[in-house]
This record gives sequence, structure tokens and C-alpha cells, in this order.
Amino acid sequence: MRRRYIWVTLAITLLAIPAGYAYVYWNKSGPGAGLYSREWKPEPVQAYWDPDHFYKSVQTVQGEFKGEECVACHTAITPGIVNDWRASRHANPGQGRETVYCSACHGTNHQALHMPTPKVCAQCHEHRVTQFLDEKRYGFPSHALAMERAVDAKHFADKPKAEVAACLLCHSVATKCDSCHTRHRFSAAEARRPEACVTCHSGPPHPDDDSYFASAHGKKYLAESAKQDWSKPLAKGNYATPTCAYCHLHNGNHQVADKTIWKFGLQEVNPNTSGNEVRRAAWVKVCGDCHDAAWSAEQLKGLDRERKQAWTKLYKAENLLKDLRAKDLLYPGAKERPPYPVDMMENFFPHARIGYLDGQSSAFYNVSPIERDYFEMWYFASLSAYKSAAHNDDAGVKRWHSDLDRALAGIETKAGALRTQGAVEKKMLGRRADPGRLWLDGEYTRHNREHN
Ligand code: HEC
Ligand code: HEC
Ligand code: HEC
Ligand code: HEC
Ligand code: HEC
Ligand code: HEC
Ligand code: HEC
Ligand code: HEC
Repeated sequence: MRRRYIWVTLAITLLAIPAGYAYVYWNKSGPGAGLYSREWKPEPVQAYWDPDHFYKSVQTVQGEFKGEECVACHTAITPGIVNDWRASRHANPGQGRETVYCSACHGTNHQALHMPTPKVCAQCHEHRVTQFLDEKRYGFPSHALAMERAVDAKHFADKPKAEVAACLLCHSVATKCDSCHTRHRFSAAEARRPEACVTCHSGPPHPDDDSYFASAHGKKYLAESAKQDWSKPLAKGNYATPTCAYCHLHNGNHQVADKTIWKFGLQEVNPNTSGNEVRRAAWVKVCGDCHDAAWSAEQLKGLDRERKQAWTKLYKAENLLKDLRAKDLLYPGAKERPPYPVDMMENFFPHARIGYLDGQSSAFYNVSPIERDYFEMWYFASLSAYKSAAHNDDAGVKRWHSDLDRALAGIETKAGALRTQGAVEKKMLGRRADPGRLWLDGEYTRHNREHN
């Protein structure tokens, strides 16, 4: 009897493993990209953001052309591109190097053109591309994994197509090399400046621009950048004030995730693990190009202290929400609002997501007001406070912490009101009031179901 149980369990396990792999493989084989490729169908412009998966050559021009011929015809067709290319190092390489024509990146056959991905650049810039791709070992967030991150999450695949397309404007940093040194100048000097980063590193959850420009470093940059010689590599002695790339791509290393301790700031971490001590030492080395090491280490400890304060506030709010969830006092509750369409678990077992590990990142729509308040406290106020502290913007830290305090006070008040509402309903009805299908159908939900 016993032995048969072991047998059956073993057989099921052995079957489940290949079945799991087959399921993932099948999911990834749809017209989109990533784990939810069957749910999310890309817009045509996606061909340019993720060319390996989606680009198909134009068929309107026939023939194979030499580099000079591409330039000659395109001088009339796309003069801006040709001008930029002419001003680039590719058109004017150093001594002994051959001109890098359009065809080196796009191919020679006009009916089989390609849009260059890192692989194409790697033919001549292997070192940088290897660094860039190797960043994957640090996991999320990182440039190398940005594309998967945006399309692999189910609550993103659930959103209307146009919204997901907008994400990829920035998250395509993973799939092509023209994000920081833009086409067709491909200028290293451009990439060294903060403007190269803040096209993407701005906005409420990641205000790297605001925090940097408000810091002593950013102010000095704004005052003196015209005098700086931007042709110099990002190395000790070449720069008076650090830029984003100076700190995050130190010595030109094409990896931005190598030193990160607090990552995006979404969850509390222990900054004193042995791995994080190594990362912190790497940070101190960067500061050490211009500052005293012990002083720099102390500045960075200030960041850890700020995070501890922020998390004390966040956990207070989180605990209030968890308590309301346990007592079924969220209005509307998880069962009363539309589940994420592609989320099978959510369809069977509706569940309010509170806290990072619970899927808090998706708690920004289809949620009750108090959950949205916590989402904003966690995602906007706390992440902004984090960036202010990381980038030495003291006034920003003060401002965002007073926002955290205000948000916590608001949540405490609302939680009190919800408890009162629950008690009143219980007294009058003997149970929680039933809203029927009030929240389950709506324009957004319907549009979403039909158009993704
Ligand atoms: C005789 C003129 C001519 C020559 C020569 C020529 N092109 Fe083009 N190219 C065009 C035209 C016209 C278009 C626009 C086609 C369209 O939009 O259907 C184009 C479009 C392109 C595009 C954009 C494709 C897209 O999907 O956005 C690229 C890239 C390109 N050409 C590269 C090259 C390269 C590389 C060469 C040399 C190997 C070359 N071209 C030679 C006329 C030319
Ligand atoms: C060093 C590599 C490289 C060279 C050389 C190069 N390109 Fe490009 N080109 C790119 C990259 C990268 C993109 C953006 C790809 C994407 O969006 O997926 C691009 C995009 C394009 C596009 C479509 C997008 C747009 O901006 O309109 C055209 C057209 C184009 N290139 C034409 C040319 C022509 C013409 C030349 C030669 C004068 C040339 N390219 C030389 C790398 C190169
Ligand atoms: C066929 C070889 C080749 C390919 C393919 C190529 N490059 Fe280059 N690249 C060069 C050469 C040569 C130089 C000039 C180096 C020198 O003069 O020492 C250069 C220089 C550069 C520079 C430095 C410019 C500066 O301001 O100093 C950047 C950035 C760059 N390439 C990016 C790219 C990117 C991104 C791609 C892919 C889209 C790419 N390259 C594809 C050969 C290539
Ligand atoms: C085209 C948009 C784009 C540009 C330009 C860009 N980034 Fe990013 N960056 C991203 C995205 C998107 C992520 C998050 C990726 C993910 O989802 O994992 C990211 C992540 C990062 C991270 C890692 C964050 C972490 O928490 O570990 C750092 C650091 C970073 N970028 C610095 C820079 C710097 C410095 C520059 C300019 C030299 C720059 N980025 C330019 C889009 C961009
Ligand atoms: C303006 C550019 C921009 C847009 C648009 C954008 N992102 Fe991001 N995203 C970033 C940057 C920059 C980061 C890195 C934040 C950091 O570490 O400070 C990031 C981080 C992330 C992360 C966290 C990475 C992780 O692994 O924890 C996810 C997930 C993400 N973005 C998804 C999306 C989705 C989905 C959308 C569209 C709804 C979107 N992003 C739109 C720039 C952008
Ligand atoms: C996050 C911004 C960013 C991205 C993305 C990026 N680069 Fe760079 N790149 C830079 C910066 C900053 C420099 C200047 C480095 C320095 O001063 O030492 C640079 C310089 C270069 C150079 C000039 C020579 C050298 O090696 O320093 C080459 C070549 C280059 N990058 C290739 C690439 C390739 C290929 C990719 C795609 C895999 C890529 N870059 C993606 C920021 C970026
Ligand atoms: C003086 C160096 C310095 C400068 C300049 C700087 N940063 Fe940072 N940045 C840091 C430090 C330190 C952290 C916190 C790192 C940690 O412990 O996680 C950080 C955090 C970040 C993060 C979160 C992910 C991570 O790696 O920790 C992003 C994204 C980021 N910075 C982007 C930028 C951008 C974009 C700019 C320019 C507008 C910039 N930074 C300017 C030092 C710098
Ligand atoms: C390339 C040189 C350079 C690097 C690298 C650099 N700094 Fe600075 N830092 C400066 C300069 C210059 C100032 C003074 C700016 C001013 O006020 O004119 C400064 C000012 C500061 C201040 C403000 C001090 C005050 O008295 O107001 C802090 C804090 C700071 N840096 C922290 C750091 C940290 C932490 C790092 C490393 C993550 C770092 N810096 C990396 C050049 C640098």
C-alpha cells in the first residue's frame, strides 16, 4: 500500500516537470514576447523596439548595394540620418580603421534589411556588448533584462495594448544600443551627460533627474557643464563633478546593476550582508575619485538610515491594510472587483495584494481607495525619498518624508472609517453590504478584455 503511494507520487512528479516546461515553452511561442506572448499582441512599432523578435524588412526597394551607394541614395531619402552619420566616428574612424557604412549595421540586401541589436554591434564592440549582456547575472532591475521585465509580468500583459507599448519606449534599453548614444551619431560624449539618462530616468517612481539636479553634484553640473571637456573617458581626474554615467557606468563599464544595494527601492533589504558590503565598497571607491573614503562611507550610511525610517512608516500602513483584509473590511473587496484577465489564480481565488511579495506592484488599478493610497505612499513618496537620499538631495528627503507622514495619517483615518462602516453594516444587516456586480463590469474592463 505505502509503496504504491510513493510510486504514484514519483510518477506524477516526473510527468509534471516536462509538462511544466512544455507549458512555459508554449506560452512563450505566441506573437508577443516573453511569458505572456499569447496574451499580448504587439503594435507594429514594436518592430523597432524589439527587432530580433518583430522586425521585417521593407520590400519597396530592390537590390544589393555597397556602403557608398546607401549613403548616396539616402542623402536624398533621409538627409538627417546621413548628416548624423557623417558627423559620427563611424564615418570618421581613427587611423587604420575602415569606414562603418550603413550596410555594416543594416545589411546590404534592401529586401532583407535588419535593425541592429547588440549582436550586430558586437561584431566590432565585443567588449562592451559582453559587459552589457553579462549584467543579466545581477537579475532585476537591470538594463539587460528590461524588455522581459516589462512584458513578462501578467498584470502588465493585462493592460490595454497602447499602455504596454508606451512602457517599451524606455524598456527597449535592453534590445538595442542607441538609448544613451543615440543614432546615428553614436557619440560617447552624449552618453556621458545626464541628459542621456533622464529621458527614461524621470517621472514619479524614479525621479533620478529631480534628485540629481537638486544635489550639489547636479547643481555644479548645471553651472559648469559648458566648460567641461566631454570627449574624455569617465575616469578619475577627468571630471569635476560626477554625472549619472560617471557613477553608474564607472570607467565606462556597461553595467548599471553591479553596485546596487537598494535596487529600485521596492522592498526592505539588509544593507549589511556580505554581498552588500562588497557593493558598498565599490560605491565608496567611486566616491573616492573625488572625496575622502571614510567620509563617503558615512554619507552612504545616511541612505541606509533614511530607508529604515521609510520602512518603519510603510510597515505601519501595510499592517493596517492587512488587518482590514483579514477582517474583510476593504470596500470593494477582492471578490467584488474584476480580476486580472490572464491571472488564473486571481480568477479562482480573488486576493487583495498587500506588500511587495504579495504582488503589491499590481495594486494600482482595480483596487479599493485605501489600497490605492498605500500604493501611492509606497510607489511614489517612498521611492522618491529613496532617490533623494541616494543622490544627496537633503531637501528632497525632508519633503518626501513629510509626504510619507501625511499619507500614513490619511490611511490611519480611512482605516478607522472602514472599521466603523463594517460595524454599522454588521449591526444593521447582520453582514457586509452586497454591492452586486457594481464593480465587476465597466468600460475599462470590457475594453481590456476585447482589445488586448
Ligand atoms: C536607390 C535608393 C536607395 C538605396 C541605394 C538604398 N536605400 Fe535604403 N531606403 C530607400 C527608400 C526609398 C526607403 C524607404 C522604403 C519604405 O519606406 O518602404 C529606404 C529605407 C531604408 C531603411 C529603413 C527601413 C525600415 O524598415 O524602416 C533602412 C534601414 C535602409 N533603407 C538602409 C539602407 C542600406 C543599408 C542601404 C545600402 C545597403 C540602402 N538603404 C540603400 C532607398 C534606398
Ligand atoms: C553603427 C550602426 C549603424 C549604422 C552605421 C547605421 N545605422 Fe541606421 N540604425 C541603427 C540603429 C541602432 C537603428 C535603430 C534600430 C531600431 O530602432 O531598432 C537604426 C535605424 C535606422 C533607420 C530607421 C529608424 C529611423 O531612425 O528612421 C533608418 C532609416 C536607418 N537606420 C538608416 C541608416 C542609413 C541610411 C545609414 C547610413 C547613412 C545608417 N542607418 C547607418 C544603426 C546604424
Ligand atoms: C563594422 C564595425 C562596427 C560596427 C558593426 C559598429 N561599430 Fe561602433 N565603431 C566602430 C569603429 C571603427 C569606431 C571608431 C573607433 C575608433 O576610431 O577607434 C566606432 C565607434 C563607436 C562609438 C564611439 C564614438 C565616440 O564618440 O567615441 C560608439 C558609441 C559606437 N561605435 C557604438 C556602436 C553601436 C551602438 C553599434 C551597433 C548599433 C556599433 N557601434 C556598430 C566600428 C563599428
Ligand atoms: C531608453 C531608456 C533608458 C535610458 C536612456 C537609460 N536607462 Fe537606465 N534603466 C532603464 C530601465 C527601463 C531600467 C529598469 C529595467 C528593469 O525593468 O529591470 C533601468 C535601470 C537602470 C539602473 C538599475 C536600477 C537598479 O535598481 O538596479 C540604473 C543604475 C540605471 N538604469 C542607470 C542609467 C544611467 C546612468 C543611464 C544613462 C547613462 C541610463 N540608465 C539610461 C531605462 C533607461
Ligand atoms: C519613462 C521611461 C519608462 C517608462 C515609460 C516605463 N518605465 Fe519601467 N522603469 C523605468 C526605469 C528608469 C526603471 C528603473 C527604476 C529604478 O531602478 O530606479 C523602471 C523599472 C521598472 C520595473 C522594475 C524592475 C524590477 O525588476 O523590479 C518594472 C517591472 C517596470 N519598470 C515596468 C514597466 C511597465 C509595465 C511600464 C508601462 C506601464 C513601464 N515600466 C514604463 C523606466 C520606464
Ligand atoms: C546606459 C547608457 C548606455 C547604453 C545602454 C550603452 N552605452 Fe555605450 N557608452 C555609454 C557611455 C556613458 C559611454 C562613455 C564611456 C566612457 O566615457 O568611458 C559609452 C561608450 C561606448 C563606446 C565607446 C568606446 C568605449 O568602449 O568606451 C562604445 C563602442 C559603446 N559605448 C558601445 C555600446 C554598445 C555596443 C551598446 C549596446 C550593448 C551600448 N554601448 C549601450 C553608455 C551606454
Ligand atoms: C555621485 C554618484 C551618483 C550620481 C551622480 C548619480 N547616482 Fe544614481 N545612485 C547613486 C547611489 C549611491 C545610489 C544608491 C545605490 C544603492 O545603494 O542601491 C543610486 C541609485 C540609483 C538608482 C537606483 C538603482 C541603483 O543602482 O541603486 C538609479 C536608477 C539611479 N541611481 C540612476 C541615476 C541617474 C539617472 C542619475 C543622473 C540623473 C544618477 N543616478 C546620478 C549614485 C549616483
Ligand atoms: C567626480 C568627482 C566626484 C565624485 C565621483 C563624487 N563627488 Fe560628491 N562632490 C563633488 C564635488 C566637486 C562636490 C562639491 C559641489 C559643490 O558644492 O560645488 C561634491 C559634493 C558632495 C556632497 C555635498 C557636500 C556638502 O557639503 O554639501 C555630498 C554629500 C557628496 N558629494 C557625496 C558623494 C558621494 C556619496 C559620492 C559617491 C557615491 C560622491 N559624492 C562622488 C565631486 C564628486
